[in-house]
Amino acid sequence: MKGKLLVVDDERNILRVISATLKKEGYEVEVARTGEEALDKFSTNHADLVVTDFKLPGMSGVDLLSSIKSISPDVPVIMLTAYGTIERVVEAMKRGAFNYLTKPVNPDELVAVVKEAMEKYRLIRENLALKNQLKERYSFNNIIGKSQAMQEVFNLIEVVSKSNSNVLVTGECGTGKELAARAIHYASSRSNRPFIPIDCAAIPEELLESELFGHEKGSFTGAFDRKVGQVELASGGTLFLDEVGDLYKSLQKKLLRFLQEREILRVGGKDRIKVDVRIIAATNKNLRDDVDNGRFREDLFYRLNVVGIHIPPLRERKEDIPLLANHFLEKFNRRNNKSIKGFSSDVIAIFLEHRWPGNVRELENAIERAVVLCPIDTITLNYLPGHLKQLKEKEDACDEFNLTEVEKRLLLKVLKKTSWNQTKAAEILGITRRQLRTKMKNLRLLPNIRQRSSSK
Ligand SMILES: Nc1ncnc2c1ncn2[C@@H]1O[C@H](COP(=O)(O)OP(=O)(O)OP(=O)(O)O)[C@@H](O)[C@H]1O
Ligand SMILES: [Mg+2]
Repeated sequence: MKGKLLVVDDERNILRVISATLKKEGYEVEVARTGEEALDKFSTNHADLVVTDFKLPGMSGVDLLSSIKSISPDVPVIMLTAYGTIERVVEAMKRGAFNYLTKPVNPDELVAVVKEAMEKYRLIRENLALKNQLKERYSFNNIIGKSQAMQEVFNLIEVVSKSNSNVLVTGECGTGKELAARAIHYASSRSNRPFIPIDCAAIPEELLESELFGHEKGSFTGAFDRKVGQVELASGGTLFLDEVGDLYKSLQKKLLRFLQEREILRVGGKDRIKVDVRIIAATNKNLRDDVDNGRFREDLFYRLNVVGIHIPPLRERKEDIPLLANHFLEKFNRRNNKSIKGFSSDVIAIFLEHRWPGNVRELENAIERAVVLCPIDTITLNYLPGHLKQLKEKEDACDEFNLTEVEKRLLLKVLKKTSWNQTKAAEILGITRRQLRTKMKNLRLLPNIRQRSSSK
């Protein structure tokens, strides 16, 4: 069923024609002959859309419109008028009518307007549902996720934020590792002290030590002044060591020493300084592998990974995609002063199908681009970046294969898999060996000599 409609008119014939037209389109249709009856039916038995005549005995169409809007402001109401007096129409539109049609009603026009209104109503309802979900429980310090995996991440963040343990956040690029680190910091008692991120992969080896631990004046060429390092600056707060898997061996040792003793030594300095910072590290590598092949110190790995939080790639938690998409739509609507309402259903389908190698960041970028480019109130395929659109084209291209082509591909695939063993291939395909041979002959799939020998 496409949705439930309520049609109101005092003329029996008109009611019959309109409901027949709409039923043929797959809608469930209820009818009423007065405004009072319509209101009664609407309050007990909600409808997704109302079509009503202006002129009704008793309560007028416009009053019915107002009453419906006060019960359900989002339900579209379409007005029918025999004499298109402009004042009436303007009044109805002011009170929130979706559109109006003049009698006698043209069935095609009616169907088109109803369809348009239902699509708009669907978007509004979907957005509302998503917004409520976001408000309820699927958001934790700006991190969005309703999947089981993300709910577990939220729980872990909450638990570790109450402690001072070191945390290692792992996950592919763009999965939200830094966001999780910030959430831990801001949920902790350190939240009014600094959160300082350091990208271990971006700073050259010779500078990183002084960046982390600081240096004394004259400790090396170019050290004109004393510099306080980031570890010290983060005192009382949290130091976020991003891309920790890329930390140079020499610094791995120094970091380990700091973690053990909680004291730093500035480059060129003599005195050890006590510093209280919480360390959260992140990596998109498999650090355990790096430990196994000697690239990362095992003792440091265990020190950092007191609590491990793994954020799964987006393709493994597709149920988060609609929520995230809506979250980013609102974010970029706000930023660009726009009010785009939602995504067309084929866009959502592509979002759900894409593998998102760049994870949430890739989705965020795609939506930012679409919001900037899209001049209408629904984001359609046209506004997706090329590589996402191609997904759809590839699919469409598949539809163009004829059956023979598909059969040929399938046979080849199975034959290759079985090293051209026809008995095995026939078994996999669920046909007899004889049928397989006939198909191969018709499709001119001839095993070469080597393949024939292996099929014995
Ligand atoms: N669950 C989420 N909810 C809302 N926004 C998210 C979520 N996950 C990621 N983002 C957003 O995606 C972008 C990338 O997130 P972030 O920088 O935390 O990823 P990362 O794992 O640190 O990536 P990289 O490995 O590339 O450094 C950010 O703009 C972030 O706000
Ligand atoms: Mg990051």
